[in-house]
Amino acid sequence: MALIELKNLHKRFGRLVVLDGVDLSIEAGQSLVILGASGSGKSVMLKHIVGLLRPDEGEVWFSGIRIDTLPERQLMPIRQRFGFLFQMGALFDSLTVAENIAFPLIEHTHKSASEIRQIVAERLRMIGLPGIGQKMPADLSGGQRKRVALARAIALEPEVILYDEPTTGLDPIRSDVINELILRLKRQLKITSIVVTHDMQSAFKVADRIVMLADGKLIADGTPQQIRQSDNPAVQRFVTGEASPEELSVLRDID
Ligand SMILES: Nc1ncnc2c1ncn2[C@@H]1O[C@H](COP(=O)(O)OP(=O)(O)OP(=O)(O)O)[C@@H](O)[C@H]1O
Ligand SMILES: [Mg+2]
Repeated sequence: MALIELKNLHKRFGRLVVLDGVDLSIEAGQSLVILGASGSGKSVMLKHIVGLLRPDEGEVWFSGIRIDTLPERQLMPIRQRFGFLFQMGALFDSLTVAENIAFPLIEHTHKSASEIRQIVAERLRMIGLPGIGQKMPADLSGGQRKRVALARAIALEPEVILYDEPTTGLDPIRSDVINELILRLKRQLKITSIVVTHDMQSAFKVADRIVMLADGKLIADGTPQQIRQSDNPAVQRFVTGEASPEELSVLRDID
């Protein structure tokens, strides 16, 4: 049985159709990369997986439970089985790094202060930033902030982590640190990973499987090797980073 299943998912905002019949099954332990142009609906798709958005039509299943129809109260325990590294990686600016990581533990568990301190220290070690617990988010680099956000996302030992553009805005070395962390979490914690990215190097490094979203549908689905060799022109352009003549036509008026 698939751990996560999206069945015929449809979502529109006003007249804008974002998801137009998405079907996707994700096996436990898999690391899936979702590619797609800006605005193609990748973040919207992730939000459906954790019940932050509800589909207009279609179903979302997690671990044998249909979740898109569950009331908010019953979604809470399910959401705790997910770690979500949001696109904006928002940390609470007025809290220290340690308090940020402790936040979900205080909110959702009855662990003692000393247990929480231990978990926070352990998570900081896992992301390779031991001893920065007392710093404020404003004093960290962008890459460090992403890693702290990741430490917070794994505070509750989730079964699944959703990464929304985890390497965007980072230099290649910092990006690779994040890629290695994604791989390590998958290996050490047997976590199922779903990674939205524009970063092809990252995609090919972390993925067991890659899908691509375009015009509200999945237009490609395969191993990294199959995606590299795809004969779909839209997929090829994405992989090689070359715009089509239509895509370049937006520049016509600039010359
Ligand atoms: N809550 C919302 N209300 C109205 N429109 C929305 C909402 N969320 C997303 N959209 C619109 O849906 C479309 C898809 O958005 P989404 O954030 O999923 O894109 P994306 O593929 O994640 O893009 P990017 O790569 O730039 O992050 C966009 O046109 C966006 O403006
Ligand atoms: Mg997005």
